[in-house]
Amino acid sequence: MTAPGVGPRRTAPTESARMSHNSAMDSSIYRQRRARLAAQLGPGGIALVPTAPEQTRNRDNAFSYRHDSYFYYLTGFTEPHAWLVVTGEGRSTLFCAPKDMEREIWDGLRLGPEAAPAALGVDAALSVNELDLHLPKLLENRDAVWFPFAIHEGLEARVGGWLAQVRARVRYGALCPEQQRDLCAVLDEMRLVKDVHEQDIMRRAAQISARAHVRAMQLCARMLREGQDLREYHLDAEMQHEFRFHGSQFPAYSAIVAAGANACVLHYRADAAPVRGGELVLIDAGCELDGYASDITRTFPANGRFSGPQRALYQLVLASQEAAVAATRAGARFTDPHDATVKVLAQGMLDVGLLDRDKVGSVDDVIEKRAYFQFYMHRTGHWLGMDVHDCGGYVEPSQVGEVSERKDPLSGEVIKNRPSRILRPGMVLTIEPGLYVRPAPGVPERFHNIGIRIEDDAIVTDAGCELITRGVPVKADEIEALMRA
Ligand code: GLY
Ligand code: MN
Ligand code: MN
Repeated sequence: MTAPGVGPRRTAPTESARMSHNSAMDSSIYRQRRARLAAQLGPGGIALVPTAPEQTRNRDNAFSYRHDSYFYYLTGFTEPHAWLVVTGEGRSTLFCAPKDMEREIWDGLRLGPEAAPAALGVDAALSVNELDLHLPKLLENRDAVWFPFAIHEGLEARVGGWLAQVRARVRYGALCPEQQRDLCAVLDEMRLVKDVHEQDIMRRAAQISARAHVRAMQLCARMLREGQDLREYHLDAEMQHEFRFHGSQFPAYSAIVAAGANACVLHYRADAAPVRGGELVLIDAGCELDGYASDITRTFPANGRFSGPQRALYQLVLASQEAAVAATRAGARFTDPHDATVKVLAQGMLDVGLLDRDKVGSVDDVIEKRAYFQFYMHRTGHWLGMDVHDCGGYVEPSQVGEVSERKDPLSGEVIKNRPSRILRPGMVLTIEPGLYVRPAPGVPERFHNIGIRIEDDAIVTDAGCELITRGVPVKADEIEALMRA
């Protein structure tokens, strides 16, 4: 919306401040996280955490604002123009946008520095306009300054400018921090294991997304039954409606709604292609709720009935997902579900005739030579959390030095292997095997252009994992029944 030429209306804004997604926010969660961070910075350490900048979409029109995940993890605060400073002694200072009647009329209420300590549990709050004034003083006499490396454009230079000001005061007895440390290393580890509060939000996000998938399947069958001109964007619209209707603030990522052969394009976006009876539809879409992502893929027959070849490949992908789920539990490695998936898919490719035994050999050969890669070219999962491809290392920290090398059979490149992360309760990952069959010599025609992925979100538990996205069915018969309903 542009400003009318006669000047702004002077009415009080009615929208509540963007203090948090939760109207009655429990700031103790964030206070505890800041205390855990402080303990890792050590005395003499100081951490600087900016939130995300606003992004222009075109001319004077901004993209919907999305806070920075690290900043939100430590504050629960969703306004732009804010920084958090935490010292190793546990003192936290928020810099935020000052109250401003004129701006608040246009953009919504601001929390403001006066109200921030009570609302967010920080020790002090100041105007973000005074950041450059205070930062050199806060950095003085500190040993190490921590900030997220290579995330915020210009941050390194800005920290450098503040440090230069501290150095200019050395002759007056000021000490300048000697170390710059990457804050991501500490926060990534903290974020990797989701606490009870986070798991609860992620379950709710997953339920909303699952419902949206159910609705899209049913809309698809109904529109085709009624002979309507069904396009991918109709299904996308149905998903987005369901997300928003249930309070999701954003989609967690751009939805993939791919009809027929489009499903073989891994990062296809929902477009205007017609959805036809007899084809499969692949939908990879999930909502973001209160800062947490969900990530679900379902593949279903547009008219509600799998053909023979479609069902054969679907059952294979589902069996490979079941093997991956069975391999997901505390104590297993992150790569175990992927290895379990590949074993089932490789055997299945030989059994259904996607791969020719006479050419590629046994299942062990298919795995060893990565011959399965023609039809399965991505990994079986990733961490999930505030970011859809969430932060957190995939290597076991205690074993980073244990490096082995192998030559990749397809590219010929030498790849360094380090032991994969050991799963712990509270880690959240996706389990998303697939098969993508592009026409090629030797590939049976009945399978051409079939693209299938099945993706669920799993919370690791001691005994196994909790699949939080099963509000949408995954078995072929159950999908068919749902689409008949
Ligand atoms: N939707 C992104 C992914 O599945 O990784
Ligand atoms: Mn995913
Ligand atoms: Mn996905």
